[in-house]
Amino acid sequence: MTHILVTGGAGYIGSHACKALRAAGFVPVTYDNLVTGWEDAVKFGPFEKGDLNDRARLDEVFATYQPVAVMHFAALSQVGEAMSEPGRYWSNNVGGSLTLIEAAVAAGCLDFVFSSTCATYGEHDNVVLDESTPQHPLNAYGASKRAVEDILRDFGASHGLRSVIFRYFNVAGADPEAEVGEFHRPETHLVPLVLDAIDGKRDALTIFGTDYDTPDGTCVRDYVHVCDLVDAHVLGLKWLQDGKDSQVFNLGTGTGFSVREVMDKAAEVTGKPVPHTVGPRRGGDCTKLVSGSVRAATILGWTPSRSDLETMIADAWRWHKAGNYER
Ligand code: UFG
Repeated sequence: MTHILVTGGAGYIGSHACKALRAAGFVPVTYDNLVTGWEDAVKFGPFEKGDLNDRARLDEVFATYQPVAVMHFAALSQVGEAMSEPGRYWSNNVGGSLTLIEAAVAAGCLDFVFSSTCATYGEHDNVVLDESTPQHPLNAYGASKRAVEDILRDFGASHGLRSVIFRYFNVAGADPEAEVGEFHRPETHLVPLVLDAIDGKRDALTIFGTDYDTPDGTCVRDYVHVCDLVDAHVLGLKWLQDGKDSQVFNLGTGTGFSVREVMDKAAEVTGKPVPHTVGPRRGGDCTKLVSGSVRAATILGWTPSRSDLETMIADAWRWHKAGNYER
């Protein structure tokens, strides 16, 4: 049995990654402190509760399973919270990742797949965002992810750690079989908030700013289906297992949608209007984040198949209605 240590395997993206790893013949070992994850989402391999900053616990888990690689998803990931509580982002995302990397190196586990973000790029007017775009994050979340990228490079040089870094654009959708899906408390992401508003599970959606320099005044994002996203991770893992070199890939489709376009599509897919109001801009938000790279396609052979807006919203809606581990 080939074990992969999946930090954050009880979270939204990590749980989908565990399902994809299992389907690809690996055994995902979830390591999660359940601060933002859900034990019910751990369905595809063993669960080990633990914190990234707990070196002794990490050493124990590495010794028990002897994983051949790490997929590191565990992180705090709310831009708004990162603006008001930056210390938590530096401590958990950077300090925790450093502890994990040191434990992996000590255990001789030198293949590492890392969940980074296009938030590391920051604001770039009229620039195509590819992997060589300078990284000037606008918030502590993006800054913390950029710092971990640097740590991975340093440990590559010093200890032979090989990494595939994925810079995600906006992840949406859910497992079409609705075994796992998106469930955050508090929820801050656009698609689940839109669906909650449609369903009357919360008040109207607030659009954060309509005065951006975009065609309809609302922010533009590049949405990628979570299943396509985790497929890229399995390809990245196989890349490392084949003995290839460290890489950085954007994961986005290259197509941007505004907040209003997402709302309109959700209304079309569900057949219900989106109750909404207009509010001020949210601090830390960039006007437009759209990938301008096809490296993951050309180098890894990544072929997203569910990342059109309609499929993402339809899958998210199916999961939303199933309400599996909702509380
Ligand atoms: N938005 C609203 N109202 C809401 C929530 C969101 O108008 O109630 C808008 C945001 O202002 C933004 C867009 O919808 O323009 C998408 O917002 P999300 O919070 O869903 O996503 P973000 O783009 O802020 O951030 C997400 C992840 C980050 C990641 C980032 C990369 O949360 O982890 O994508 O773009 F880094």
